[in-house]
Amino acid sequence: MTLLELRDLRKEFGGRHGIVAVDGVSLRVSEGETLALVGESGSGKTTLTRLLLRLLEPSSGSVHFDGVDLAALSPARLRRIRRQVQVVLQDPYSSMNPRMRVTDIVAEPLVTHEPGTRGRRRRVALKQRVGELLDAVGLPPENQDRYPHEFSGGQRQRISIARALALRPRLVVLDEPTSALDVSVQAQILELLADLQDRFGLTYVFVSHNLAVVRQVADRVAVMRQGKLVEIGDTARVFDAPAHAYTRSLLDAVPNLDPRRARRRETA
Ligand SMILES: Nc1ncnc2c1ncn2[C@@H]1O[C@H](COP(=O)(O)OP(=O)(O)O)[C@@H](O)[C@H]1O
Ligand SMILES: [Mg+2]
Repeated sequence: MTLLELRDLRKEFGGRHGIVAVDGVSLRVSEGETLALVGESGSGKTTLTRLLLRLLEPSSGSVHFDGVDLAALSPARLRRIRRQVQVVLQDPYSSMNPRMRVTDIVAEPLVTHEPGTRGRRRRVALKQRVGELLDAVGLPPENQDRYPHEFSGGQRQRISIARALALRPRLVVLDEPTSALDVSVQAQILELLADLQDRFGLTYVFVSHNLAVVRQVADRVAVMRQGKLVEIGDTARVFDAPAHAYTRSLLDAVPNLDPRRARRRETA
């Protein structure tokens, strides 16, 4: 089933003589899959993800989520749909209030989107939900009252994943989620993301410039260049038989991405 569909999506910045950050992109994302978005810096990956969250208005084209055109929704319905799409960024620290405790950081989306009652019962329910979320991301519950600076980068990324899951989203946009982490920590976070995807039936749009990571996690890969989608296909096909010269040049820039490719180069 198609969960997300972009049709001829375009975003210009800076008026008529500005730049075209996203230039006529059409693609579909199926429920439960991981679609990787790759391409050099400035190719429009982040802008595309902001368009699909509707944090940015497209200049033209449309975004359908679960069959619904987001542009046609009232603000209230857009808010309800938007909570089904959450985002995890490269640097979670920048989006965390350093004076908030972990429990409040993870609870923040719940408090914002489900205001409801205050009172003791509400507090107990929130605390329990935060406990479940921290458990799901592998952080012991005794961390609830600590502050972001007391954690390692990997633990902070776990906190931001817990926060992203608080509203039980269906689609999670991961924008370079492990790029700031050491390789060993990166592997743990990737394992956690795979685990959560299975457990909660999540759909991922995974932005990364790390093609080794992409090969490991993605079902399909979309390659962007200068705002355009140059190629999209199953991960194995894109890596083994790239259809576009630009994709080939991206792959060739990565040493030892795949033993077969490396051998081919050595013997060439
Ligand atoms: N808010 C903005 N205002 C003007 N230009 C922007 C803005 N956001 C991104 N851009 C430009 O759009 C292009 C694509 O940027 P971005 O989507 O961040 O690429 P990527 O994530 O692939 O590195 C770049 O040229 C960038 O400078
Ligand atoms: Mg980016």
